[in-house]
Amino acid sequence: MQSEDAPSVPTDWTRSISYQSRATARPTAADLRELVSKAEARNQTLGVTGMLLYDKGRFFQTLEGPPRAIETLWTSIRSDPRHTDIEVLSEHVIPSRLFGGWNLLGYHGDEVPEATLRQAKAEHELTGEIPQFIDLVLNGDDIGINRKIAALIESGWKGDLILTHLIEPTARALGDAWLSDDCSELDLAIGLSMLQLAGHAIVHDPTPAKLRTSQYRILLATAPGEPHMLGTSLLADLFTDAGWNVDMAFPDSNQALANQLAAQQPDAVDIGLSDALSRKNSLALLRRTIERSRFAAPDHLTVVSVGGRLFSEAAATAENVGADYARKTVAGASIRIAELIRLKRQEHRQT
Ligand SMILES: Cc1cc2nc3c(=O)[nH]c(=O)nc-3n(C[C@H](O)[C@H](O)[C@H](O)COP(=O)(O)O)c2cc1C
Repeated sequence: MQSEDAPSVPTDWTRSISYQSRATARPTAADLRELVSKAEARNQTLGVTGMLLYDKGRFFQTLEGPPRAIETLWTSIRSDPRHTDIEVLSEHVIPSRLFGGWNLLGYHGDEVPEATLRQAKAEHELTGEIPQFIDLVLNGDDIGINRKIAALIESGWKGDLILTHLIEPTARALGDAWLSDDCSELDLAIGLSMLQLAGHAIVHDPTPAKLRTSQYRILLATAPGEPHMLGTSLLADLFTDAGWNVDMAFPDSNQALANQLAAQQPDAVDIGLSDALSRKNSLALLRRTIERSRFAAPDHLTVVSVGGRLFSEAAATAENVGADYARKTVAGASIRIAELIRLKRQEHRQT
């Protein structure tokens, strides 16, 4: 591994390493549980996140954290007699964690559920694409971006996974690069609009028929004073593909948003903070925006959804801001919000 003292690597960056290996003896469920619980405790102390999978005699692990902590951990893991044939699959240094909310996950048994495996594989394989994707995005290479997305779709990647594990994390990495002065504000703006273009190339997973005919109306808004387009644009494509009536709003004040809500009376409103930057002080403002929005048409039932980096990294919840729903990703949002609309109406009928 490259030393953390290398001058090109700021010490506050995150080192990430992924490897696979072969178990020397087939571990029992109890062995795996013990391994995971000890590893989890030590990783927490070291500030390391990531995941560990065990499937049919093979381990797969991604670790990320402070370079020095990864170095220490890797020295232990590499010489652990419980596995052999260790093959490093990827290793990089990045300005931000890509597994933000993850801790160590262990699977007790030989059979990992198919969906979990697919999800973990997407985390790993698409995460590995991010550094190259950032280059394309920062160079404004729209042809390269479209080619990349087309190639991923061609090789079977579902749109939802590309959104959640490539496009949205790239936005967060760009935000971090801007914060740490590794790119200019103009680079960030160009990068985010390139990601918006990439989002248009995504084909969304088909919506179940009963939700397709719902004809719900949603107002997609940016939080007042937080002009950004990426999340709103990705959502607009997704909801339109799912057959919703979509309106957009880029209000400059709570009053402007309330006026639009009162005039349009949508079934749901989504208010988005930036997908790239996590500004905690925007939460208090968002809470006020939502309070104000709920008064805009008090007799009309409106589901209030929120999104943005603070929510995707679980740094904030729907309750923190008085919303009905906080989306961690744009993927799946139309299905979840349709359910909430139905639920809210059902509750209203029963009261
Ligand atoms: C496949 C595999 C993955 C492991 N992952 C971790 C881990 O993420 N964190 C950790 O502290 N130990 C992990 N361990 C255990 C370490 O190899 C080591 O036993 C433990 O960190 C104690 O370190 P020490 O023996 O140097 O004191 C893992 C072991 C195996 C076999």
